[in-house]
Amino acid sequence: MNRGTNIKENAKLEVEGNIFELPLLRASQGQTVIDVSPLKSSYFTYDPGFKNTAACKSEICFIDGAKGKLEYRGVDIDKLASDHDYLEVVHLLYFGNLPSKEELNAFKAKLDKNMKLSQQTLNYLATVPKGSHPMEILMGLLTTTMLKPKNNESASIDDAMIDLIAKIPVICAAIYRHGQGLKPIDPDPELSYSANFLYMCFPDAKFHLDDDFVKAMDAIFTLHAEHEQNASTTTTTTVASTDASPYASVLSGVAALSGPKHGGANEACVNMLKEIGNRENIPSFLDKVTKREAVLMGFGHRVYKSKDPRATFIQKLFKDIISKAEKDNPLFDLAQDLEKKALNDEFFKKRALFPNVDFYSGIMLSAMNFPTNFFTVLFALARTSGWLSHIKERAEVYSQPITRPRQLYVGKVADEDPEVTPDKYSHQKP
Ligand code: CMC
Repeated sequence: MNRGTNIKENAKLEVEGNIFELPLLRASQGQTVIDVSPLKSSYFTYDPGFKNTAACKSEICFIDGAKGKLEYRGVDIDKLASDHDYLEVVHLLYFGNLPSKEELNAFKAKLDKNMKLSQQTLNYLATVPKGSHPMEILMGLLTTTMLKPKNNESASIDDAMIDLIAKIPVICAAIYRHGQGLKPIDPDPELSYSANFLYMCFPDAKFHLDDDFVKAMDAIFTLHAEHEQNASTTTTTTVASTDASPYASVLSGVAALSGPKHGGANEACVNMLKEIGNRENIPSFLDKVTKREAVLMGFGHRVYKSKDPRATFIQKLFKDIISKAEKDNPLFDLAQDLEKKALNDEFFKKRALFPNVDFYSGIMLSAMNFPTNFFTVLFALARTSGWLSHIKERAEVYSQPITRPRQLYVGKVADEDPEVTPDKYSHQKP
């Protein structure tokens, strides 16, 4: 297989009489890419939101948006979420292979040694006002993990990965308990990664002993672990490209994830469903969406133009696990009705808008007893492995220069009449 290699044929671009031969790069699967480097900055390409830009080479994740297919390192997401626990998936993403039993034990042993939170992290948490948003607390607590006598700028990526993958569930569980007015509790190294997390959140509920719940937690973490060049991963690798520490890079990923167009959509989606309230209100809500007075949260995606396979998996997981215990879940029933109606609506059909991961994940997490404003923290916990895998790949496999895009300047010009300049360029404004 020729990965990322040139196809013999070039694309030809003629600009103002200059002809550029632009090599075509073959992907191992997915879209062919035009290499614009022969332009050598004589012209820039204009692509707001990077809708048409492949910003790097990567081996970590593949999405086929038309077919609704997702793979981590060539392994189908359904198989990973069904047959493997999250820690195996972290190993696959970061090191490139599903671990043998020995590799997994060695990996877990390293994590177990690094789980304990520092006193400064705990002190900081104790000062956080109750009612603060959990994602904002997470950003603060991650900052405290950087404050060590040893300078983090020299921390190796591998050491930072062990430290962050070990501490992130302990930090997130402590944030959950803080929100409930409870003190954090120490991890139990005898438990699996996901069981331990459930135990640190709900020590008395015995969820960590319930195989179905632990399996569901593993699957949810796996489904959220990685998604190629999404906004938070792009932010993380941009920060890492400046040679900032992996800690600072991961922190920037958390900030990018918090927005409702990205990871924050799970919280926004459940709030939206609660606001819709019941199935009779669905038509008037969809009417608002088509009039651009509302957005259907948990729908639409830059890459998927069919149903996100993660949404399909979580919908089934909910039926298998939660519906067994509960006869009716009004929010789940409402979401299924809303999905059906939206998929039959011309507005959504025309734009190929389908449910994404966040459409059902929040409902699943509510049923697992997590509060709504905590959902995105769970996303961040899981995505930390994906961010770190990309940081390592950029540093060690497909290294590239600092991320520094160019722009189409449409502002004032120093030696032109300031009254005239804005009009002259106004046609170029979006
Ligand atoms: N509700 C109503 N209209 C929508 C929606 C939606 N959820 N999503 C896209 N559209 C419309 C959009 O207005 C545009 O219409 P037009 O072509 O007439 O201007 C068209 O569909 C194409 O959308 P876009 O905004 O150009 O697409 P994008 O790739 O820039 O944005 C998105 C993708 C996920 C930000 C967007 O679909 C959205 O805001 N969805 C709701 C928030 C959400 O669920 N986010 C979670 C994404 S998946 C998890 C993750 O990666 O974090």
